[in-house]
Amino acid sequence: MQIAERMNVIAESITLKVSAKASALKRAGVDVVGFGAGEPDFDTPAFIKDAAKTAIDKGQTKYTPTPCLPELRQAIADKFNRENHLPYKPEQISVGAGGKHALYMAFMATLNAGDEVLIPTPYWVSYPEQIKLAGGVPKFIPGDEKNGFRITPAQLDAAITPRTRGLIMNSPSNPGGHAYTPDELKALADVVVRHPNVMVYSDEIYEKLLYGGLKFVSFAALHPQLLDQTLTFNCHSKSFAMTGWRVGYVGGPKDAIDAINKLQSQMCSHITSFTQIPAALALNDPRGAESIEAMRQQFEKRGAHMWKRLTELPKVTCVKPQGAFYCFPNVSAYFGKNAGEIAIKDAISFSSALLEQSHVAVVPGNDSGFDTHIRLSFATSMEQIDKGLDRVARFLVELK
Ligand SMILES: Cc1ncc(COP(=O)(O)O)c(C=O)c1O
Repeated sequence: MQIAERMNVIAESITLKVSAKASALKRAGVDVVGFGAGEPDFDTPAFIKDAAKTAIDKGQTKYTPTPCLPELRQAIADKFNRENHLPYKPEQISVGAGGKHALYMAFMATLNAGDEVLIPTPYWVSYPEQIKLAGGVPKFIPGDEKNGFRITPAQLDAAITPRTRGLIMNSPSNPGGHAYTPDELKALADVVVRHPNVMVYSDEIYEKLLYGGLKFVSFAALHPQLLDQTLTFNCHSKSFAMTGWRVGYVGGPKDAIDAINKLQSQMCSHITSFTQIPAALALNDPRGAESIEAMRQQFEKRGAHMWKRLTELPKVTCVKPQGAFYCFPNVSAYFGKNAGEIAIKDAISFSSALLEQSHVAVVPGNDSGFDTHIRLSFATSMEQIDKGLDRVARFLVELK
């Protein structure tokens, strides 16, 4: 069958290949320690699950309006107002099937062919591919490990050209685990407001998972002008351990939201009907905030422990995670060595060898713009973290 040319502009995910191999090993009965997961290992809070059961029993199983039930849009607008100081009204909210879909629709609705979008590295794997599908051109701003992967205002200023139409902000970050302080974000915002043609896509889905007392601030709240220049993304996936429910949302200027809703009306119509009231409840009910905080505290302990163990490994460096649930160590000191038959030349060969020989699954940083780093998720138990890192330590010692 003919395959559309547009499929050639996006790359096949290396990450998926590695996780497919890990799954095959697990199915074959091998005891694999998985550090690949990009999702909380906690269950969705019971009150949210109960609300979904009630919604089904009450017959909320039919079509809803494209921008979702008014209760959900109102709850999201209230959340943005209350927690993020973003005065969005319900008509400034669009809802997608997860953060990923909300981002995709936004790129499709706001980018023209050839529009350049700046992406600080390391980045979440889907940004460049989604931007390319929308006809845009990703341009990268290299994050420096020595500066905790955070880009500087001078770097941002230098990267903006007359062709720049967008900037991706993602703090806390996947895969870097880094986060900006409010002052650092403000300094970047000051650069952006000098360029009113640059739209900011602020991916704030790890908002609730911040460590070391760091305070969260929404990018669009940093300057009144940014409200008209920014689309703010969030989702229930990570905060409420609801990855499979597929609830993501975006707030922003009404013309952009109208365009996104127009696309959604021809795409999915709306997200699953019986997730909408539970999703609204999650944002409003104090039990939502309580469950987030309990999970955050666990992640903070695990992240600090994983980071300590990683930095004790010879010749491995790692930025201390300040948010999300990932460590992103640099393993390039081991490139040029051999693991049995496998020559280790980059993060992909390192990850393959680690999986095949020591049964530890990690994600190579290649898809995130860093072929020298690997990503380890600490959304797993302390026991698994220790077991996996014991194996990594032995693997490194045995490299020739
Ligand atoms: C930075 C970032 N943005 C967006 C997403 C997409 O989230 P969702 O699962 O809600 O589609 C992810 C998921 O891993 C992510 O890490």
